[in-house]
Amino acid sequence: MATYTQELRATAKSMVQSGKGILAMDESNGTCNKRFDALGIPTTEAARQSYRELILTTPGLSDYISGPILYDETIRQTTRDGVPFLKVITDAGMIPGIKVDTGAKNLAGHPGEKVTEGLDGLRDRIAEYYRMGARFAKWRAVITIGDGIPSRACIEANAHGLARYAALCQAGGLVPIVEPEVLIDGSHSLEHCYQVTDETLHAVFAQLYTQGVAYDQMILKPSMVIPGKGSSQQASVEAVAEATVLCLLKNVPATVAGIAFLSGGQTKEQSSAHLNAMNQRFSDRCPWPVTFSYARAIQQPALEHWSGDESRVAEAQQYLLQRAKFNSLASKGEYSSELEKRLALA
Ligand code: G3H
Repeated sequence: MATYTQELRATAKSMVQSGKGILAMDESNGTCNKRFDALGIPTTEAARQSYRELILTTPGLSDYISGPILYDETIRQTTRDGVPFLKVITDAGMIPGIKVDTGAKNLAGHPGEKVTEGLDGLRDRIAEYYRMGARFAKWRAVITIGDGIPSRACIEANAHGLARYAALCQAGGLVPIVEPEVLIDGSHSLEHCYQVTDETLHAVFAQLYTQGVAYDQMILKPSMVIPGKGSSQQASVEAVAEATVLCLLKNVPATVAGIAFLSGGQTKEQSSAHLNAMNQRFSDRCPWPVTFSYARAIQQPALEHWSGDESRVAEAQQYLLQRAKFNSLASKGEYSSELEKRLALA
């Protein structure tokens, strides 16, 4: 049986190399269509192809992005000139990644909670994606904060799924991005989010340990510790950065190759400011690189500007590149709101 230890270590390291982050563009057709619908863009495969081509052919993207995460439809697509997206990515010096879960489904017996599915047949899908050229994968679990939830059942089931997925990825040559997302929806406090994130990360690392996952060959993609969107008590940038870093320091082994946050519905400015504050104030305490793996916080301005209008591709690419650059700066603690105002395109 092939072992990929050296390759996995090297891939994980390049995914979080200094000044770079991961671009999540792995929206399922359902999620992508929802975002298109909101802007009046046709929800067709052709429109999804055009939009993904816009993203991947953005000049200079690889200055800030180590690799994009693709969806099954996208990894098989080409540019309109027939160049496989996988070739566009590797020619630009980026590493292709692939979402391999099949979505968060209702957790039986636990109303309001989800469990992520996709373990059936996963070994074979990983082998196919590796043969195609993918070198890392993503699996997202969602934890909802609400009245009496999350339950222990939800946290344990999701942690177990993440660990089984991660072990299969490493056996098949893909670096697993382990994504336990504590949702920002709700009116919970920062302290409540800390407590749930703490319990979730603890359970996830216990399961990763039990399943024999190598920490130096994986990336953790957590949510930040932040009050719910509906909370009347929003927190300062410093408070979010501090609570998030403390929660990670408490739960994440020092040998984990890197942390790459999701944006989770924060505004683009918040996502950059929070990441920046963590790197500015706590880089000497963090044993891992701390960077981004955003979808909406990088893509949204570009998607809105494009809105399906092919004459706006080049401008939309500038919007995309600017968010990638701001987050690259934030990953080094070099972003500021002044810079944001001074250079803003929109
Ligand atoms: O799974 C979620 C994505 O990978 C990150 O998306 O930055 O819009 O939360 P987001």
